[in-house]
Amino acid sequence: MRILVTGGTGYIGSHTVLTLLEAGHDVVVVDNLVNSSPEALRRVGELAGREAAFVEADITDEAALDAAFSDHSPEAVIHFAGLKAVGESVGIPLDYYHNNVAGTISLLRSMDRHAVRTIVFSSSATVYGEHNPTPYVEKMEIGAMNPYGRTKEQIEDILSDLGASDPRWRIALLRYFNPVGAHPSGRIGEDPQGIPNNLVPFIAQVAVGRREKLMVFGGDYDTPDGTCLRDYIHVVDLAEGHVAALNYLTDHEGVHRWNLGSGTGTSVLEMHAAFEKAVGSPIPYEIAPRRPGDLPAFWADPSAALADLGWSTVRTVEQMCEDHWRWQKNNPMGYAPS
Ligand code: NAD
Ligand code: UFG
Repeated sequence: MRILVTGGTGYIGSHTVLTLLEAGHDVVVVDNLVNSSPEALRRVGELAGREAAFVEADITDEAALDAAFSDHSPEAVIHFAGLKAVGESVGIPLDYYHNNVAGTISLLRSMDRHAVRTIVFSSSATVYGEHNPTPYVEKMEIGAMNPYGRTKEQIEDILSDLGASDPRWRIALLRYFNPVGAHPSGRIGEDPQGIPNNLVPFIAQVAVGRREKLMVFGGDYDTPDGTCLRDYIHVVDLAEGHVAALNYLTDHEGVHRWNLGSGTGTSVLEMHAAFEKAVGSPIPYEIAPRRPGDLPAFWADPSAALADLGWSTVRTVEQMCEDHWRWQKNNPMGYAPS
């Protein structure tokens, strides 16, 4: 197939573009580079042995999207483009709603005009909110807790309404748990700008000497070691989940929701210990106050993705840390020339 990937130069997007190229698909990436580097796509081309096309454009720009659809004639879309920092979304909610929600509406209108009605969307486990018991199951009522999460929830609603309005739409809502790791080549990986918000990129920057120590946010939760539990998923497993969802949509209409997670919780201290093992030396840390808004523990029930897509995670926490570390060690400053 020929697939248009929004946000394809970003962290999850670049790994998915590589997986798509390796599976024999043709790819055109649309990205405005607000949080990524074109170097990622150059390296993806090197690893795959062939290039994805690239259009530098903003998804809120419908004319630019129309041109991309006309020029490249994709048959399906994988939609990663979005802003994703929870804390930032509280301070600038309009930017988040405009970029994520209005941007998605522009994309869907452009798709409809070009009769492209198959889309795989990057949702998040954050839509389950604070009232659901873990493990999370797709049929639970959702209710996000911050503007970022609400953009995901609203986009899910828009896509559900669209699917209900016209049976020609084929829609996959993928709720990611905590993506970490990197391609095993160490050539592509996560390259956060500024201070990393997420645990594993922060640990990796301490390990490589860019930060002094990890602050563990909260050591007094009601969990086995007092730190929060999350469901970490290797980014290559996640990328493969997108290909599985796309394959499913080739012979299923309608709107479908799947958790993409491993089904297992790992604590902050366990993740820190696994990363130390991958690095082979101690990584300084300190227990700090809780981070507002953090839930103590959640993980996926991934059984629907296994039943419907034949997909489940195969890579371990150890592999996540080894691969993430290889990327960070070989690229201490990410994609920026060092
Ligand atoms: P990322 O920031 O690395 O990638 C997002 C990409 O979208 C970037 O390349 C950015 O430049 C691009 N982009 C943003 N706004 C755009 C716009 N208006 N027009 C065109 N391009 C735009 O993030 P990621 O971690 O790869 O996440 C990809 C998607 O998955 C996002 O939608 C994110 O919300 C979602 N998600 C991520 C996580 C996570 O922990 N990484 C968890 C759940 C869901
Ligand atoms: N943590 C630390 N120190 C840090 C960073 C994180 O102790 O420097 C802790 C957090 O308190 C949390 C755990 O590590 O207990 C994981 O934190 P992340 O920020 O890596 O991940 P979250 O589960 O908070 O959030 C992630 C994404 C969100 C997404 C959510 C649910 O960042 O976008 O998963 O999928 F919504």
